[in-house]
Amino acid sequence: MKTVVLVYSGGLDTSVCIPMMREDYGFDRVVTATIDVGQPIEDIRQAEEKAEILKTEHYTIDAKEEFVKDFIFPAIKANGDYQGYPLSTAIARPLIGLKAVEIARQVGAKAFCHGCTGKGNDQFRIEYMMRVLMPDAEIIAPMRERNYTRSEEIEYAQKRGIPLDVSFEKIWSIDENMWGRSIEGGRLEETDYPPPEEIYKWTKNPVEAPDKPRDIELGFEHGVPVSIDGQVLSPLDLVMEMHKISCEHGVGRLDIVEDRIIGLKVRENYECPAAVAIITAHKALEALVCTRDEMHFKSLVDHEWGDLAYKGLWYDPFKEALEAFIDKIQERVTGTVKLRFFKGSVRAIGRASKYALYSEDLASFDSKTFDQSKMEGMVQVHGMQTRMYRMVKGN
Ligand code: ARG
Repeated sequence: MKTVVLVYSGGLDTSVCIPMMREDYGFDRVVTATIDVGQPIEDIRQAEEKAEILKTEHYTIDAKEEFVKDFIFPAIKANGDYQGYPLSTAIARPLIGLKAVEIARQVGAKAFCHGCTGKGNDQFRIEYMMRVLMPDAEIIAPMRERNYTRSEEIEYAQKRGIPLDVSFEKIWSIDENMWGRSIEGGRLEETDYPPPEEIYKWTKNPVEAPDKPRDIELGFEHGVPVSIDGQVLSPLDLVMEMHKISCEHGVGRLDIVEDRIIGLKVRENYECPAAVAIITAHKALEALVCTRDEMHFKSLVDHEWGDLAYKGLWYDPFKEALEAFIDKIQERVTGTVKLRFFKGSVRAIGRASKYALYSEDLASFDSKTFDQSKMEGMVQVHGMQTRMYRMVKGN
């Protein structure tokens, strides 16, 4: 029996892959796998229903907790960002690839199918995981191979009795997990077309957000958030609670132009409510406990981490090395940060840590502990090379 594991979203692209696998690629057993990383529950149910209609062996894998602990938390420690995009789709793809491999092992499959197109980033991320973990597996990407237009695809689907839902008529191309939601397509492809309100599903319009600011205190331990207002929460509950608060205050809307892996520039709109709030707090705490040199170097390390995560190179040795540095720093990223949410913004309004490299007594305008007279010599030599330069230039 020839078995293929199809990474299945329940959408049109991956649904047409099912008859294709049977008719054109000679698989007599199609196993569909939907990985729950916090996308809408209706999408997951729809995938299950369609899998039943199309008679596949279907698995829904709840990977939400693993997503938070093994993917979102490392992203928080690295202030995970790529060109202003708080990495969300990008960090879910490796997990989806990983789960697909686990299922393949379980069902004895040596082939994978996915619905990624040849223009995007996801083909790199998903296939990378499959190839790293199962080097001999065959990987089939019919969407990339066939270059179908939307209407050809619909015609194909109709002929095969694939249930079409209204979503294929929708203007926007959306990807969603609990760390972020991306909206592409339609008129957003015009780079100067302002995003219409209808693209946002999570966040309140900041104009309609509460007129009263909301302050919370986020507790961190070793670089990861553990509590809100002193109440300890599980990783998943904490992220979901931060998501709720941020959404209520219209936090996390982003509109950027992004360079895809292949070099295509694309217009991207995001809602990343929890990511924006938690990373804002994490950075504020790092600023309190890290030395200046650590801060500077970590921003370079974070940048490299963001590039690697964007490319989906989740098991790269460079990433491991970067994380060794990041984790060393995180040993001291323990403490609390007060955040204020107000009409689309979130900012730190307080921070405290037992590892703070801060002394009120030294810094205060009202203290004599710091003997200022000691500074004279240091100030005199400050900028010595500028003076040398001007002397050599002759002015
Ligand atoms: N630009 C983001 C990324 O590459 C989001 C892409 C959304 N993906 C999708 N298949 N619709 O991570």
